[in-house]
Amino acid sequence: MDKLINILQDKVKNAFKECGYDEEYGKVITSNRPDLCQFQCDGALSAAKEYKKAPFLIAEEVVEKCKDCNEFERIEVIKPGFININISNSFLTDYCNNMIKEEKFGCIMEKDKTVVVDYGGPNVAKPLHVGHLRPAIIGESIKRIHKFFENKVIGDVHLGDWGLQMGLVIEELKFRHPNWDYFSEDFKGEYPKEALFTVSDLEEIYPCASKKTKINENMTKEEIEKANEFKENARKNTAYLQAKKKGYYDLWKKIVEISVIDLKENYKKLGVEFDLWLGESDSQKYVDKMVEKMKDLGIIYESDGAMVVDVEEESDETCIPPCMVLKTGGVSCYQTTDLATIMQRQIDFKPDEIIYVVDKRQELHFIQVFRCARKAKIIDENSKLTFLGFGTMNGKDGKPFKTRSGGVMRLENLIYEVNQKVYEKISNTKEMKEEEKIKISNIVGLAALKYADLSNQISKDYIFDIDKFTSFEGKTGPYILYTLVRIKSILNKFFENSTIKENVILEPIENEEKEMLLKIAKYNQVLEESYKENAPSKICIYLYELANIFNSYYQKVKILNGDKERLNSNIVLLSLMKEIFENGINLLGFEAPEKM
Ligand code: ARG
Repeated sequence: MDKLINILQDKVKNAFKECGYDEEYGKVITSNRPDLCQFQCDGALSAAKEYKKAPFLIAEEVVEKCKDCNEFERIEVIKPGFININISNSFLTDYCNNMIKEEKFGCIMEKDKTVVVDYGGPNVAKPLHVGHLRPAIIGESIKRIHKFFENKVIGDVHLGDWGLQMGLVIEELKFRHPNWDYFSEDFKGEYPKEALFTVSDLEEIYPCASKKTKINENMTKEEIEKANEFKENARKNTAYLQAKKKGYYDLWKKIVEISVIDLKENYKKLGVEFDLWLGESDSQKYVDKMVEKMKDLGIIYESDGAMVVDVEEESDETCIPPCMVLKTGGVSCYQTTDLATIMQRQIDFKPDEIIYVVDKRQELHFIQVFRCARKAKIIDENSKLTFLGFGTMNGKDGKPFKTRSGGVMRLENLIYEVNQKVYEKISNTKEMKEEEKIKISNIVGLAALKYADLSNQISKDYIFDIDKFTSFEGKTGPYILYTLVRIKSILNKFFENSTIKENVILEPIENEEKEMLLKIAKYNQVLEESYKENAPSKICIYLYELANIFNSYYQKVKILNGDKERLNSNIVLLSLMKEIFENGINLLGFEAPEKM
């Protein structure tokens, strides 16, 4: 279905053309003075220069041609040559009625495009911390938006499970349990079915191992040697692992297995679901083939023991270092796994696009990887590789968010704090069973967290402000939910003792409803923009504005006990609003409680 603004624009463009001007001057935009008009066209002002004619005269000619269009209620020239437009009730209501009849609010579907969304990116054996919040929230929303447009979308968690951190964990386990069969060279039997450690063990082990490799100037020579030895061993373990050495590989599989169970549970609490649980390790089987290909193409060479590909381009303003395809000793590194994963995705899915939702501080890494992938021809040349780099969630001090004691905050704890804050608010005001209060706080808390994140531009940093995010007023998740719950309760009350007459449609409307309809009529445009620009923030802003319009309408108009003539039409209007809110929050990745 054509977007409302395009329909208007076509009319105005046509008028420009009929008057002998370039139709490009007929661009229509939403008015930036809503108190004066709904839409405007400023084209006559620029046309004046080209045609050496007063803008006012051009505008008048154009307006004259539009006078009879039934889309316009009022179209007039304002000095020095603006064209102000208000649309007719009948056109607006027809448009909204069509939106009801059409599927998906009349958005134009993409279909047939295959898109891989790489998001989440948790690391095995490490707990999820606040740094994992944004990729999960943003990626989930991007995935849902792309699915809404009927693309074939594959969300892949891309576990960090193949790097040095695995070698470190193994080294620490070996230090603590030297007698485990996993480490015995000539062990022939079966390794234990049950894991010999828990997730909490692993969470303590990784930081402990990592600390053992740290060196500082206060250390004795011996201590430094010990740290270096530990690191060297971890490096060896990583190489063993990547060569799938018996014992090491089996132990690693157990580590991954129990980590993944825990990760799945945590992502579920966030309302985040992946279609694929592949990791860096799954790309290992493509590495040899990939390196062969690079050799055939003559693009890879040895440099200090590593294998690298130059990715510099003439137009670069800063230096882009070569992409490291293999580390010394043929060990895979972060770039290796990302490259081989591209090859794997090309073979498995032939994607039209791969979208990476990753911390924007990793941009250089992706520039190198994407260029190298293109040079090595491991991805179809028409496929898009998109880096969607996100900014950092900061504390009030403007630095990356930390716990009160300055440590890295676990995601679980952050979610708990937000839910608790919401709980305090509703328990003060509402008579509810304890169980219900908890359930509602969890739903609303998640909405608070997600809305606060998504309402920002993805690439921007933002400040975590729990009081602001959980407020029931302003640009917040709770405010949106509160509005939706209000709409639902009005509809429930109505449907308790009445039904709507069949085929009732929105009828020409009074002023209060007109503003709402005007906003509703723009929803499909907002969806298409947020899809094309990968910008969930557009949906956030839209829902906030729609909620404001509805709430002031609600203050003014008695919906159920007011004008009987308008009742049925209003119920249709409210049902459509409900559908929009539900669709919008679903695309943002949260849901609404029954009451709050
Ligand atoms: N595991 C990585 C990290 O913690 C993020 C992974 C992002 N995705 C990717 N394909 N590299 O930094």
